[in-house]
Amino acid sequence: MNTATQLPVIERVSELRAAVEAVRRRGGSVGLVPTMGYLHEGHQSLVARSAAGDDLTVVSVFVNPLQFAEGEDYGTYPRDLDRDTEMSAAAGAGLVFAPPAEEMYPQTPITSVTVKGLNAMLEGQIRPTHFDGVTTVVAKLLSILGPGRAYFGEKDYQQLVIIRRMVADLCLPVEVVGCPTFREPDGLAMSSRNVYLSTGERPAATVLWRSLQAGRDAVVGGSRDPGEVEAAIAAVLAAEPKASPDYVAVVDATTLDRPDVLAGELRLLVAARIGRARLIDNLGVSCD
Ligand code: PAJ
Repeated sequence: MNTATQLPVIERVSELRAAVEAVRRRGGSVGLVPTMGYLHEGHQSLVARSAAGDDLTVVSVFVNPLQFAEGEDYGTYPRDLDRDTEMSAAAGAGLVFAPPAEEMYPQTPITSVTVKGLNAMLEGQIRPTHFDGVTTVVAKLLSILGPGRAYFGEKDYQQLVIIRRMVADLCLPVEVVGCPTFREPDGLAMSSRNVYLSTGERPAATVLWRSLQAGRDAVVGGSRDPGEVEAAIAAVLAAEPKASPDYVAVVDATTLDRPDVLAGELRLLVAARIGRARLIDNLGVSCD
């Protein structure tokens, strides 16, 4: 129990199952918001969405080692469980699940969930083992809890598409709810990794959002050539000397394939490094 908020913080799988089972026996619905902690208002918007419709909202806080590669920021990823618990409570959660790594992985797992193809494009080209780590831990969290709904942000758009596909392919009995990206007033998408930005770098970080808007303007203005729209996005990124782009992509919103001619629902995606921070963002645009 966290004394500041009276919100239960559970570390053990068996205890969590017992708590959730008690709610289900009374006919209550359970929602899961998986996170890696260091919560911000974006996470809170997912929690609030669940709390509005589910009898019990569980926030999991687990920095998942499986989704970090050697040399990435697993060791330095920001952590603050007390603050996360308070923010979860404030947004309407009923319980926080914060397992130690040994609880989630008592032995080195030799079973993993892979969503082939989708895991290798875009983010997967730069972080080849990342999405297998994500799908494996999310499958595990869903299996531990058995929530009726699970909430994911469009901020990590490729992750959302991959999780939807995993749930469909494995017939997992859960509804995946995608939630809109929560932004700072100047457009920067909220992210736990924004703390890596120095004061000098922070204004430059709006370039991702500005570049996406330029891409949307190109589509709305009539462009149906993905190369042309990507060039419009890239031009805005190139004008910011502090940003080093990893990729710019215009893809079909469901398959993540790059169409020859733009049509239907599209997603514009960008990734760029600014100093120590690696930032991603995306924007939906309809061609019709
Ligand atoms: P994390 O980066 O902590 O994000 C947890 C959830 O919050 C994800 O679904 C993410 O898309 C969503 N989110 C993050 N920033 C957001 C914003 N600005 N607006 C709306 N939603 C936002 O994503 C992960 O953790 C992990 O990969 C996880 C799914 C927990 C598996 O370990």
